[in-house]
Amino acid sequence: MIESTECIRASNLSFGYADGPTILDIPDLTVQSGERVFLYGPSGSGKTTLLGLIAGVLEPPSGTLRVLGHDVGALSSAERDRFRASHIGYVFQMFNLIPYLNVRDNIALPVRINEERKKRLGSSLDIAVKEAAAHLGIEQLLDEKVTRLSVGQQQRVAAARAILGAPELIIADEPTSSLDANRRHAFLELLFSNVAEAGSTLLFVSHDLGLADQFDRSLSLPELNHAGE
Ligand SMILES: Nc1ncnc2c1ncn2[C@@H]1O[C@H](COP(=O)(O)OP(=O)(O)OP(=O)(O)O)[C@@H](O)[C@H]1O
Ligand SMILES: [Mg+2]
Repeated sequence: MIESTECIRASNLSFGYADGPTILDIPDLTVQSGERVFLYGPSGSGKTTLLGLIAGVLEPPSGTLRVLGHDVGALSSAERDRFRASHIGYVFQMFNLIPYLNVRDNIALPVRINEERKKRLGSSLDIAVKEAAAHLGIEQLLDEKVTRLSVGQQQRVAAARAILGAPELIIADEPTSSLDANRRHAFLELLFSNVAEAGSTLLFVSHDLGLADQFDRSLSLPELNHAGE
């Protein structure tokens, strides 16, 4: 029997920005390894904030937050950065591409700087970048600066970058918001096949509830979150 393990375990998690009010107050949240979870909720309900906490982009919340067996609250900021680079592929809502690098180098960067992700590539980095770019229809843009791309093209660069090197956890914050129907379909196909092949856990935020039935489970942030009650 294969035992399922927890990828994310949060209890009594509470977070507010700086001196601001409590934004998130989540008594309990568990995501099993290999689960594909669809997270939705109104604008401003804290979806991006929750993803930022899980990925260690934000200062740790109070309460318990374990991700892939690590106690996020016990890690320094630099340790959280290293942990994210090794284990988490993140499609940021605002993309966070490196403006002075071209498309190829943006996609390749997380794998280039991380041995664990490099080892998981089934081919050379150059070929893996080209294959992901081809699947997303941006192969002709590999030598372009990312600042010259349309928003939807930038979003596809961010998506390719997050998937490469099979991170154990993929976090995608509205990754299809700027894509047309064909591009959205191609991206989801690539994402799901990568996730299935690598056994990765997927946490996917979207306002497009029509996508929810492609996931194992849906979570709604107002239901998870007790802040403001
Ligand atoms: N850097 C920040 N500093 C202070 N408050 C912030 C910051 N980022 C977000 N907030 C506040 O936290 C709350 C949740 O924001 P968040 O971005 O997590 O929402 P969201 O659910 O991702 O919304 P959307 O669907 O619009 O992306 C909002 O009230 C917002 O004003
Ligand atoms: Mg958001």
